[in-house]
Amino acid sequence: MEIFTTAANLHAWSMAQKRAGLKVGLVPTMGYLHEGHLSLIREALKHCDKVAVSIFVNPTQFAPNEDYDAYPHKEEDDIALCEGEGAAAVFLPTPAEMYPTDASTWVEETVLAKGYCGAQRPIHFRGVCTVVAKLFNIAAPDVAVFGQKDFQQVAVIRRMVRDLNFPIEIIRAPIIRDEDGLAKSSRNTYLSADARKAALSLSRALFAAKAAVEQGERSAATLEASIRATTTAEGWLPDYVNVVDSETLMPLETVTPGTSAILLACRREGLRLIDNILL
Ligand code: PAJ
Repeated sequence: MEIFTTAANLHAWSMAQKRAGLKVGLVPTMGYLHEGHLSLIREALKHCDKVAVSIFVNPTQFAPNEDYDAYPHKEEDDIALCEGEGAAAVFLPTPAEMYPTDASTWVEETVLAKGYCGAQRPIHFRGVCTVVAKLFNIAAPDVAVFGQKDFQQVAVIRRMVRDLNFPIEIIRAPIIRDEDGLAKSSRNTYLSADARKAALSLSRALFAAKAAVEQGERSAATLEASIRATTTAEGWLPDYVNVVDSETLMPLETVTPGTSAILLACRREGLRLIDNILL
């Protein structure tokens, strides 16, 4: 497996793969890899010959009051995990490699990025779109894989790819959960034992809502109220709970099975967790 730290070297590698007739996949990450990230590498390998994984904690998607400086790292383990999954390349740039000190260009999606997590984190998706657009230009992948865990992120990136004509297929891979239902996240490492136990209320509430829809429930208000009650009872206070159209992210009053999803973010003791489910 190749390890690249410069954009020029990753780009040259990717071009060489393509000249050899091979299909290149990209899995963008911020490292501290877990089974959720690894599932994306496996998914990418179903669609491509060579998979590159980027590991870069992107400063521009963190607000000053967020956890950029505290974001967990374990580069050596991450490299071994990528190799174990059959990745062909890892890209580990420094912030200086990615951002010239006088960088002055942003990529901003202005509709899907506004609500939900974007309402709580106003600069977040601008940072995500900018770094992902840069990674797309650097790695020039045919396919890029993102996790459903960050539902709004995939919707925003798909819109950016469509609007800016990136010749890249975006794949959304399912959420990987711990056995008890908690969606895996690098930030779960911040949870105390009590907060983690109480956090099971998020997935439990979403699974119950999906079951209710399967039993015929169609009212978004009823589903949302029940989810709020379940997580609040465990001390996880919802920032938002919304039944939405899975493509436009518009809030819905009535569920349409097959094209609706529920998006959820909750806070407790300064920590914030997100989860979602397709209906
Ligand atoms: P990060 O949080 O490291 O996540 C990298 C990718 O892993 C994202 O596509 C995310 O949705 C996916 N992922 C995380 N947890 C998952 C889970 N439990 N199941 C399935 N997929 C999961 O998302 C980012 O980094 C950054 O915003 C990034 C896109 C790299 C841009 O900086």
